[in-house]
Amino acid sequence: MENGGSPRNQWCFKRNEELTRASAVTVRGVLNMVMEHLNASDPRPVIPLGHGDPSAFPSFRTTPLAEDAVCAAVRSAKFNGYSSTVGILPARRAVAEYLSKDLPHKLSPDDVFLTIGCTQALETILTALARPSANILLPRPGFPYYEAIAGFRHLEVRHFDLVPEKDWEVDLAAVEALSDENTVAMVIINPGNPCGNVFKYEHLKKVAETARKLGILVIADEVYSHLTFGGSPFVPMGVFGSIVPVVTVGSISKRWIVPGWRLGWLVTNDPDGILMKQGIVDSIKGFLNITSDPATFIQGALPQILENTPGDFFLKIVSTLKESAEICYDKIKEIPCITCPSKPEGSMFVMVKLNLSLLEDIKDDTDFCCKLATEESVIILPGVAVGSKYWLRVTFAIEPSSLDDGLGRIKAFCQRHAKKQ
Ligand SMILES: Cc1ncc(COP(=O)(O)O)c(C=O)c1O
Repeated sequence: MENGGSPRNQWCFKRNEELTRASAVTVRGVLNMVMEHLNASDPRPVIPLGHGDPSAFPSFRTTPLAEDAVCAAVRSAKFNGYSSTVGILPARRAVAEYLSKDLPHKLSPDDVFLTIGCTQALETILTALARPSANILLPRPGFPYYEAIAGFRHLEVRHFDLVPEKDWEVDLAAVEALSDENTVAMVIINPGNPCGNVFKYEHLKKVAETARKLGILVIADEVYSHLTFGGSPFVPMGVFGSIVPVVTVGSISKRWIVPGWRLGWLVTNDPDGILMKQGIVDSIKGFLNITSDPATFIQGALPQILENTPGDFFLKIVSTLKESAEICYDKIKEIPCITCPSKPEGSMFVMVKLNLSLLEDIKDDTDFCCKLATEESVIILPGVAVGSKYWLRVTFAIEPSSLDDGLGRIKAFCQRHAKKQ
């Protein structure tokens, strides 16, 4: 030891402040905090209306075909090794074919990069885009993982609003006003988390035209693709790839209800090869070279899952979500202090506005959720966690009977806390 063998009087390592700042607001962190307020002596079951993972509920069990495909992949002994960093070819080919069905152009396996869930896909593209002084436009309300990753990669975040009175459409005038020569991309989430909206074809086209005018990339988070049950069908943003380059991120987590399987993708919809020319494809590959890959046996099972899942499995999931969304919307209408600006048409969530002037002793959305947990054993997510204070995000992806019970408890809570006339 350089100082004669006596130990230094201080440890040389300490907390990474940047990491602490970047991860300050996460959905799981806020939900954990709300759950700490549960009252252990309440004999009623806890009703979880804050999550995005309904896999534990019997109505949302995945298809046996997917389970069998994974077992067969494991037993085949063909997928015990490392995969290539971009993913194994048969799995990338299967994703290209699966997504091409809804596109005007045909994707090639080289447009597809397999990732550890959609989470790693969005981390990959944000990292590929980050450079000093660059900024990115994110939706508000949104999915806070984008803010966390952008913050950690020194990508400045600027928020544009989604407009509740217009079915949560993007405020495109704000997008134009926010962008400058250092703006690299904008993100849309469709179907929407947290709003439960589904963008219409015409609106997506305007998003593409605006991004083209600004010279920026569109990152389309389509992790809830095809989970739609209202008037608007799901339209993939890649349809507009010849107007503006689009990077689509997705996974099997939501449509197949297997978020724990951690299989996602990043796909370039870029018929004109602009991303290649700008070096973004190299940056994507570079990042994947220095991170880990989705488990090879899940990749091995993917062609079977994407190609052969029976249509009636999808129909059943979507019809359960539709039934739950309707229960949710109708019951919320009966609760005076919360309002829902538009009926959810997709994903697993709805945003509702809290009218604090009708409540006696509730400070804000976080206070509402903590007291609700204590008094009614119902968990919902405070809007502040997704960028909208005084709002709440309610998950309807649970068994319809539990949802009914949970909304009844929220109503009782609001009645108990209502201002006396
Ligand atoms: C909008 C959005 N993007 C990405 C993800 C991450 O998806 P995955 O579980 O496939 O990593 C989620 C998960 O809830 C999400 O809601």
